[in-house]
Amino acid sequence: MKIGFLTSGGDCQGLNAALRGVAKTLFDAVPYVEIYGIQGGYRGLIDCNWRKMEMHEFSGILREGGTILGTTRQPFKTIRDADDSSNVDRLTTMVKNYHSECLDALVILGGNGTHKTAYALSQYGINIVTLPKTIDNDLHGTDYSFGFDSAVAKATDVIDTLHSTAAAHGRVFVCELMGRKAGWVALYAGIAGGADVILLPEIPYSDESVLEVIEKRNQIGKNFSIVAIAEGAVTKDSADQPKKRERKAGDISPGMELVRRIDEKLKQDVRLVIPGHFQRGGDPTPTDRVFCSRLGAMAGELVLKRKFGYMVALQGNSIGAIPLGEVAGKLKTVPLDCEVLKQARLLGISLGE
Ligand code: F6P
Repeated sequence: MKIGFLTSGGDCQGLNAALRGVAKTLFDAVPYVEIYGIQGGYRGLIDCNWRKMEMHEFSGILREGGTILGTTRQPFKTIRDADDSSNVDRLTTMVKNYHSECLDALVILGGNGTHKTAYALSQYGINIVTLPKTIDNDLHGTDYSFGFDSAVAKATDVIDTLHSTAAAHGRVFVCELMGRKAGWVALYAGIAGGADVILLPEIPYSDESVLEVIEKRNQIGKNFSIVAIAEGAVTKDSADQPKKRERKAGDISPGMELVRRIDEKLKQDVRLVIPGHFQRGGDPTPTDRVFCSRLGAMAGELVLKRKFGYMVALQGNSIGAIPLGEVAGKLKTVPLDCEVLKQARLLGISLGE
């Protein structure tokens, strides 16, 4: 069996643990398996940039962040375009390269965009098993995606650390966390870190509600406040307006906008902290290592059983499999009626409503 492995989209903790899990399962079960590491995500499949890998290359990587295969973003909206130097579109090129290398299957680790391309490839008859990767936890069909727990741990660490300096100076800290379309990281890290206000893309907020929380805390002698804001959070006013273009590097961020606005209205200092890619770096948590190993083992088993066209997924306490067609193109945002939101409100956390 000749299996290509690739990691695609933004990296996260646990990619290597998951790759190791699949490799161990395949090498242990089939003596004649060959694994080809495709470099830099789908770009490597387009450019035939791969190499045969040995089992020892998957050793000692369980706790390493990043990905030993490298990764790139290859936007799905351009996947049917040709590269400048070619007349053939990228999807067709990948299908051709898969066949010319006589691969039996691809194991693909990625998030939402990655799954759209994986599904498109599977519709061309490519044998595919995928694993759900994203710190954003916004992949449909799995209770959690790997990387999420580690990102929440990093983000929580930031909020924890801010408490002492916020209290010492009597300041308001706005901590902007990753999550453009789904607020899972901000929600979980906000609760774990004891934030007073949590602002999510799913719930448009008002400045007044944020200011009210801060003032109420001041009145009861709590002279500092922590606001966790997801990078995709929107105010009620802007939610009613037509969507602007995607935010670019260097743009003023939603956290910065909030700080500017509330700073004018507060007597106390306001500071902004953006941990950014810190949330995606470093070691995976033990929970993510176990999760990735379990997902990897089940992905390996699906390959061995030649059960293709599935994403392995956490369903309750079990690792199951869900057809790619049911995953691709569906975003799992924080449901407005979910228990965690209800419990956050019961805890006295403001969601900026
Ligand atoms: O999708 C994962 C994610 O970390 C998002 O939370 C974040 O908005 C985005 O990637 C950042 O992308 P990049 O690494 O390309 O800057």
